Amino acid sequence: MSKQNPLLEAFKQTNYQVAGNGKRNVQVLKDAFAEVDGEFESDMYGKGKVIEEFQTKIAEFLGKETAVFFPSGTMAQQIALRIWCDEKGLKKVAYHPLCHLEIHEEDGLKELHHIEPVLLADKNRVIELKDVVDLDQEIACLLLELPQREIGGVLPDYDTLVSISSYCREKGIKLDLDGARLFEILPYYQKTAAEVCALFDSVYVSFYKGIGGIAGAILVGDKDFIEKSKVWKRRHGGDLISLYPYIVSSDYYFDRRIPKMEQYYEEAKELAAFYNQCDSVQTKPLVPVSNMFHVHFDVAKGALEPILIEIYKETSVGLTGYLQETDENSCSYEVSIGDQYEKVPKEKLAKVFELLREKVSKK
Ligand SMILES: Cc1ncc(COP(=O)(O)O)c(C=O)c1O
Repeated sequence: MSKQNPLLEAFKQTNYQVAGNGKRNVQVLKDAFAEVDGEFESDMYGKGKVIEEFQTKIAEFLGKETAVFFPSGTMAQQIALRIWCDEKGLKKVAYHPLCHLEIHEEDGLKELHHIEPVLLADKNRVIELKDVVDLDQEIACLLLELPQREIGGVLPDYDTLVSISSYCREKGIKLDLDGARLFEILPYYQKTAAEVCALFDSVYVSFYKGIGGIAGAILVGDKDFIEKSKVWKRRHGGDLISLYPYIVSSDYYFDRRIPKMEQYYEEAKELAAFYNQCDSVQTKPLVPVSNMFHVHFDVAKGALEPILIEIYKETSVGLTGYLQETDENSCSYEVSIGDQYEKVPKEKLAKVFELLREKVSKK
């Protein structure tokens, strides 16, 4: 057993994990293909039944004219913003300071497309209408990430979304949705995917977050926009000769997990409440608005690690495999609820939090 990362090792040894959809192993792909006929034909460079049917299915689900499947959301989103900037002849987009494009993509938007981002809102809160109205410069596009992952998966009110959308339409600003976790927020908003997407000009969704597939993304919009995005997909090298391993698995897990989003949301609220009963522990948001939240401990990472390891050994329930140091006296981690939560026996979960309350309060 590696001593490099004792928390992760202890987590891996547990019989139950409260978060996620299970291990990211080859079985995930094997399950998706178990019933697929060997004669089933591959797609070829973006054409063929398997890709076209899935694109149509998701375009309909999202209530948009048409769709294109991408190997990654990173590629899909940079392309969407490039198209909107070219259309307006202005290489400026606005988005949240902690959105995926700004902090996780090695400046792809700036380096590859020479697009200048305008950072909106304080990094600790979501974008509000006022932030958009107060913009002192012209932009081609505004990107909203729903939920805002890096601050725990927080959402603006639905009315705020509606007012931002109508303001952008009035001002000729394109509105793009980073919907990596769109399916996961629908139970909170009590809206269909199509209702939310109607507020946006273009939307990207992911098939490996709550859906739990291997990888892959879909970008939707009107015909003209999607035709242009296919050209850019080729330029980016995203037009793989065969994308079917990603498509078949995306489709398989989409059908299985879309009906479970409400359950994941309810379970996230239940689990967050358990955490919030412990002193020195708080979830962000306090009450989750999707299947995800962040857990913040007012305990040093070095002090919490052995506590968690002890709890994992005693209960065989794993809470997290990592801790992120926030400062020398606090740390945090992200939780996304999936299929694993329902498998944890309730009495074991109660025991985990009894131990956590006891051990953390002694610190
Ligand atoms: C909010 C958000 N947007 C975009 C992406 C990019 O997705 P991909 O990994 O498919 O490039 C991610 C991935 O974690 C994400 O969390």
